[in-house]
Amino acid sequence: MGKILVTGGLGYIGCHTTVELLGKGIEVVVVDNLSNTTIDVKNRIEKIAGKSFPFYEIDVCNTEKLKEVFASENITGIIHFAAFKAVGESVENPILYYRNNIEGLISLLECVKEYNVPNIVFSSSCTVYGDTKESPITEEHPIVQAISPYGTTKIVGEQILFDFANVSSTKVVSLRYFNPVGAHSSSLIGELPIGIPNNLIPYVTQTAAGIREKLTIFGNDYNTPDGTNIRDFIHVVDLAKAHVKAIDFADNHSFKVEVFNLGTGKGTSVSEVVDTFEKVNSLSLNHIYGPRRAGDVEQIWADATKANEILGWKAEISLEEMLRTAWDWQQTLKD
Ligand code: WQD
Repeated sequence: MGKILVTGGLGYIGCHTTVELLGKGIEVVVVDNLSNTTIDVKNRIEKIAGKSFPFYEIDVCNTEKLKEVFASENITGIIHFAAFKAVGESVENPILYYRNNIEGLISLLECVKEYNVPNIVFSSSCTVYGDTKESPITEEHPIVQAISPYGTTKIVGEQILFDFANVSSTKVVSLRYFNPVGAHSSSLIGELPIGIPNNLIPYVTQTAAGIREKLTIFGNDYNTPDGTNIRDFIHVVDLAKAHVKAIDFADNHSFKVEVFNLGTGKGTSVSEVVDTFEKVNSLSLNHIYGPRRAGDVEQIWADATKANEILGWKAEISLEEMLRTAWDWQQTLKD
C-alpha cells in the first residue's frame, strides 16, 4: 500500500482517522484548507502518533494545486473528508455548500482519474436516508429527498462516485456515519467549536462549561418512550477505526462500489444522553424542553451488520465513554 491521502485530515473525524492510520503504520498525506480547523491539530496528531506526515494547506477545489500533491506523492488510496457539514448553515447558504462539497469532490476525481488512484473512501451520512420511520436502518433503505442542502451534497456525492466507479478502475467505499461524538482519550484532539454549536454534544459540553446558559431539548412530544428524539451516537475513534478497515478492505478486494452504515446499532434518546452525561461526569446540566426543531428525524439508528460482517468492524466504545471524553476535551478548551 502506498500513501493514503486524507483530505480534511485536520478536521474532527479526519484527525482521529489520521491518528489511527499512523498507528497502523500506514503512510499518510494530509491536505486541508484550515477553514474549519487549525494547524496546531497537525502537531497534536504527531504527538499522539509519535510520527510526522506531509501536510499541504490546499483547498480541494484548487485542482492544479491538488494535482501537484499527486505528482509528488505516491497516492494509492484516498479518504475524502474535506467538506462543509453544518446542516443549519447549509440551509442558509446552499450555494456555498454545493460549490464547496460538490466542486471539491469533482476536483478530486479529476486527480483520481489522471493518476489512476485505485481506492477512494467517501465520508457520507445517514442523512441520505431522510425522515425515515424504519430503524434499525440498513444500506438497502431507499435514498430519498434530503432534508438539507448538506444532505443533498452527500446524496449527489455518492451518485457522482458511483457513476465514476462504473467507468474507471477506482473502487469506491461510501461510509454513512450516524452521530459522531466524543474525543480522543488523550484530550489532545476533539471537535473544535466554531460559533454556536448545531449539534447536541458540543452544546451539552459548552453548557456544562458555562459557555452556554442552558441546553434546550428540541421537543419531548415525539412518539418515543421518553418523547425525545432517538439517535445512534458513535464514538469518533470507533468511526476512525472503521476508515482504516475500509481502506484495507478496498486494497484487498475487487468490487466497484460498497456502502456501509457506521453506527453502534443502538438507539439512545436525547434525554438519555443528558442523564448519562450528568451521571458519568457528576454534574447537573441546566436544560429545558423546548419546541421541536424543523427537519429533525424522530428516530434513527443503524443496522451495522454489513460493516460487522464484511469489514470486520464493530463499534466498541460505550455511551458513558463518549460523554466522558467529550467533557474531558471541553475542559481543555479556552472559552
Ligand atoms: C441530535 C439530536 C436534536 C441540539 C447530525 C449531523 C448530520 C449527520 C447526523 C454526519 C436531535 C437534538 C440538538 C440541541 C437538541 N452526521 N438537539 N438540542 O440532527 O441527528 O444530525 O448527525 O454527517 O450531518 O448534523 O444531530 O446533534 O444536531 O441533533 O435537542 O441544542 O439532538 O433535536 O434530536 P442530527 P444533532
